[in-house]
Amino acid sequence: MKILILGADGYLGWSMAANLFSSSHDLFLVDNYSKRKHMKSLKRYPLLETPLVKKRIQNIKRKGVTKFYQLDCSKYVDIHKIIKNIMPDVVIHFAELPSAPFSMINTTNSWETLRNNLQSTFNIIHSLKDLSPKTHLIKLGTMGEYGTPNIDIEEGWLNIKHKKRSDRFLYPRQGSSLYHTSKIMDTDLIWFYTRMYGLSCTDLMQGPVYGLYPNKKLDDDVAPLFTYDDIFGTVLNRFIIQAIMNQPLTVYGTGNQIRGYINILDSIECIKIAMKNKPKRGELKIYNQFTEQFSVLELAELVRKSLKKININVNIKKVKNPRVEKENHYYNAKHSNLKKLGLKANKLNEKMIIQIANYCMKYKSNIKINTIMPKVKWK
Ligand SMILES: NC(=O)c1ccc[n+]([C@@H]2O[C@H](COP(=O)([O-])OP(=O)(O)OC[C@H]3O[C@@H](n4cnc5c(N)ncnc54)[C@H](O)[C@@H]3O)[C@@H](O)[C@H]2O)c1
Repeated sequence: MKILILGADGYLGWSMAANLFSSSHDLFLVDNYSKRKHMKSLKRYPLLETPLVKKRIQNIKRKGVTKFYQLDCSKYVDIHKIIKNIMPDVVIHFAELPSAPFSMINTTNSWETLRNNLQSTFNIIHSLKDLSPKTHLIKLGTMGEYGTPNIDIEEGWLNIKHKKRSDRFLYPRQGSSLYHTSKIMDTDLIWFYTRMYGLSCTDLMQGPVYGLYPNKKLDDDVAPLFTYDDIFGTVLNRFIIQAIMNQPLTVYGTGNQIRGYINILDSIECIKIAMKNKPKRGELKIYNQFTEQFSVLELAELVRKSLKKININVNIKKVKNPRVEKENHYYNAKHSNLKKLGLKANKLNEKMIIQIANYCMKYKSNIKINTIMPKVKWK
């Protein structure tokens, strides 16, 4: 297949590409390096400055077709041209600004998140409609689109009975940041194009991803992006970095906020499962892509307990929640469809946390501890 990976310099995009390097597919990678640019301008730094994609591809020395294009998916002419030239079988769309705090900093960043994410999704799907409607679009959404409703979260859709009649609708969505709201709007846009023009689309409602890929041979020249700061980092990375710097693990508010998490290996596997199960024309498949639920406090406790085994002893400290979110809530999200299609979960355990910590310790001198405590407040 010809696979176009958008956002290939990012954490998931690069991991996905690296996994497919051992396949015989033709790979076309795209990124505009906006994540690097935004991080630099906000003085946030990854654990390791990874080489640019072109350099990393050279380091891997793959035999099959592997091309990289530095372009901006939010520029219609550019994305239209690339789709016209490649006519891909599959497009995997990671190319978005995925930070909730970034989207809440100020007017400029709020708009940039909405603009970049919606304009990119629009350009991709509109070009597919015109040029290549048989292409399978796989889009990364987020479990955060659903919010924390006081009822079970279904996989994408909800059957509603109203005054003796019934119908199926997108499950109600209510994001808790402008980033999450942009993802909700993406889903609406994709559903519109799918039903209106008979496209084949999969929207993956993914929980926070953790772990390192490639996870066996983590040479610096092919290493994945690892962020741990208050704006671009995810919670598990943040806790691990705090622990190895002998700082308390800071939990926002009560720490009872529950979310569904997934290992990077499983995230890649889910996308490969989605690739093998292309929706019919006019069908939008939605999967909830996570494997287990934790509260933030449970996650902090697991990191504390695991790292004690390698003689790192830290406490957990509750700090004022910078976000506006429910801190004590019901959470029961369905996630059985990918399992039915063959996903075997790699559950989070002490060994994995120690493995990530050992990797981070190699670059301990790069860690900027002053970038961890939250600086962006929702109100
Ligand atoms: N990482 C997670 O835990 C997680 C969880 C749920 C959903 N997701 C979703 O998965 C996708 C990828 O997440 P990630 O963690 O790899 O993010 P990331 O920021 O590491 O990667 C995104 C990449 O896309 C690029 N990009 C952004 N806008 C672009 C544009 N207009 N044109 C070209 N390239 C562009 C960035 O430069 C970056 O390299 C996002 O859509 C995100 O919402 C991620």
